[in-house]
Amino acid sequence: MSPRPVIRVIGSLNIDFVTRTPRVPGPGETLSATSMTVHPGGKGSNQAVACGKAAFTSPTSQDVVVEMIGAVGANDPYYASLLKPTLEKSGVSTAGVEEMEGVQTGTATIIVDEGANGENRILVVPGANARVDDLGKVMEAATKDGLPDVVVMQGEIPRSTVLGLLRAFNSPERKTCVIFNPAPMFPEGVPIDALQGLAVLVVNETECRQLFAAVEELNTVPVSRPDEIMTESELDRLTTYLHGKAGIRIVVVTLGSQGVYYSFETGDLLDRALIPAVKVERVVDTTGAGDTFVGYFATAVARHLARVKGLDNLNIREAVSRANEAAAKCVQRSGAMESIPFGYE
Ligand code: ATP
Ligand code: RIB
Repeated sequence: MSPRPVIRVIGSLNIDFVTRTPRVPGPGETLSATSMTVHPGGKGSNQAVACGKAAFTSPTSQDVVVEMIGAVGANDPYYASLLKPTLEKSGVSTAGVEEMEGVQTGTATIIVDEGANGENRILVVPGANARVDDLGKVMEAATKDGLPDVVVMQGEIPRSTVLGLLRAFNSPERKTCVIFNPAPMFPEGVPIDALQGLAVLVVNETECRQLFAAVEELNTVPVSRPDEIMTESELDRLTTYLHGKAGIRIVVVTLGSQGVYYSFETGDLLDRALIPAVKVERVVDTTGAGDTFVGYFATAVARHLARVKGLDNLNIREAVSRANEAAAKCVQRSGAMESIPFGYE
């Protein structure tokens, strides 16, 4: 039997304090909310859980190894009782999670607006995630026992670490399949040059607009307003630019209830399509929908790389469709990690 492919997720771990409310209070207003619950979260660990859960082909077999690399506060009871067990039950190794002295685990205060279809507003306090700033140390953890098949990264650890890792993993000598989800987008942005040689970029509509805001060459062409839905021709134009300028093989733009757009450069051809979202009866909480998508997609890529060297011939339509279905399941349940389905579901 060939060894299982390995995904290493390098990113944030948070404790989510989730308040559900019939509406969001205005300035100076106090309101009785519906409930407050505490959940494991953080974009990095949510995506690791999504990779781990996606890899369960039955309740007892997992065909992809998933490892989390990041940091939490030392002796944090929430890590011990909530985050760590949830990661492990989802098939994610926590050996690469450092428990740091003198700092708190990251937190997210999440307001779920029940009156606006479960839409959320999130305030993040980075805590230990901000201390994942020693590039050499992170690189050592990320390449321990050799290079992983897939590296997954987001925007909730320091920008200098993320850009340094992109440079290292995408260099011709160390060429690794990196899936980068710049969420949330760093306030200083991500220069297109830093994406040179990236295998997969996944952004939502907001991040997509932010990425292109600084690209002067595109400024002469009108881009839709933030309150408008991006058109397919606009997405075609922007992704063509990314394929050409940075050599990114796959660009995915998640479009919330509109579904997912993808563009895959295969040789001289561009395989691109818009896959509509799965129709759901009731949206309960959209937190973690994007993370579910990224994790499921990463697992599909890792499985492909276990069979074939390189991304050529990846069945991208199937990978995107399955991740789209998993994300639709996620929005119908409450919480981030708990709402992510197992692959066999
Ligand atoms: P979040 O920050 O809430 O985790 P996001 O902004 O990163 O999400 P979105 O583009 O809003 O990402 O959603 C990710 C994916 O989740 C969508 O591409 C789609 O597959 C699924 N999804 C989101 N909202 C819905 C919905 N209302 N119905 C069905 N699927 C949805
Ligand atoms: O993507 C959802 C996550 O974003 C939440 O779990 C929260 O921790 C924030 O980081």
